Amino acid sequence: MALVLTLPWKKELGVPTLVEWDQQMGALILPAKLKLCLSSPLLLFRFSSGRCFSDFSSHVLETVAAGPGEDSAVGFWFRRHFRYAMEPHIAQRHGDDVQRTASKRLMGKVAVITGGARGIGAATAKVFAENGASVIIADILDDLGTSLADSIGARYIHCDVVNEADVESAINLALAWKGKLDIMFNNAGISGTEGSITNLDMEQVKYLLSVNVNGILHGIKHAARVMIKGQEGGCIICMSSSAAIMGGLGSHPYSLSKEAIIGLMRSTACELGVHGIRVNCISPHGVASEMLDMTPEEVSKIVEERGSLLKGRSPRLEDVAQAVMFLASEEAGYITAHNLVIDGGFTSASSNMSFIYQ
Ligand SMILES: NC(=O)c1ccc[n+]([C@@H]2O[C@H](COP(=O)([O-])OP(=O)(O)OC[C@H]3O[C@@H](n4cnc5c(N)ncnc54)[C@H](O)[C@@H]3O)[C@@H](O)[C@H]2O)c1
Repeated sequence: MALVLTLPWKKELGVPTLVEWDQQMGALILPAKLKLCLSSPLLLFRFSSGRCFSDFSSHVLETVAAGPGEDSAVGFWFRRHFRYAMEPHIAQRHGDDVQRTASKRLMGKVAVITGGARGIGAATAKVFAENGASVIIADILDDLGTSLADSIGARYIHCDVVNEADVESAINLALAWKGKLDIMFNNAGISGTEGSITNLDMEQVKYLLSVNVNGILHGIKHAARVMIKGQEGGCIICMSSSAAIMGGLGSHPYSLSKEAIIGLMRSTACELGVHGIRVNCISPHGVASEMLDMTPEEVSKIVEERGSLLKGRSPRLEDVAQAVMFLASEEAGYITAHNLVIDGGFTSASSNMSFIYQ
């Protein structure tokens, strides 16, 4: 069994490496006969500045191998600062803790999410935070964004993606807070007005493009700058849509904006791959959110009946959030210049002639 002590505060408190630091997992991994769990982050800090710290690493390895004796100094510290899990039910709980920590797929990562105050962006912020990432929510909905950030241990910043300086500030907040940026999710977008091409209001079109296209351009530009400088690669994810790959699924300006994003994603992936920066798109379809001019129930009903090969199933916000997390994670480490479509197969195949398979 492996024992995992998570040390997310390592950097801030300058805690030296005790035994083996797994950079990727952001965790300390020990082979252990002993089951124990950290009762508080502060305790480890006290440990680090406490009197027996200098001998801690060698003692700990020996003690873990042998099991801490009643009389050992480390055993005393363990009993004082950590809770043993000798009884089966506690052991089980601690085993679960260990597994949960080990399965946090974005441990130690720092992410900025534009449009993260509600809808798909908010669902993604929650999934990212649950998986160990430090998240910055950048939006124009200050109340919603602030309360969501408070509830998941994230940070909120007012950011209108139309303004390049706002996007740059959101990314600078990541640097000021955690010293780096690993994941940029350019999610903010609007649907724009529907109607005939013959009556397009060009001012409205310009505004939509300034949010949906320029906003993403600002995000890629400034994320790439800091990721290149950081020399640790990174991951940029841009929000496109099923409306980019099939006509008839969005207003004309919306479809235009979402297809432009795929082109931009591909060209920037070409340039940034040499720096280890992956650039991908995500293209959902028919997710019940406040962006659409219909109730969530109406959206779900239409998609379930007519907008998916998976009859009776419509996409949840979490379906998209999980797909974004996959792209952001190490599991997708060889995926770049890709558009991940979350549409229940709708834009790839039609079931209108499925009698063929009967
Ligand atoms: N809902 C769907 O079916 C669907 C399908 C495909 C793509 N998308 C895209 O997903 C993204 C998120 O949409 P959603 O469905 O969660 O809708 P939503 O309206 O709930 O979320 C959009 C978020 O973007 C923010 N935003 C809007 N303009 C902004 C600006 N100028 N600066 C900063 N933030 C701004 C909003 O405040 C909101 O928090 C959008 O880009 C949308 O085009 C949605």
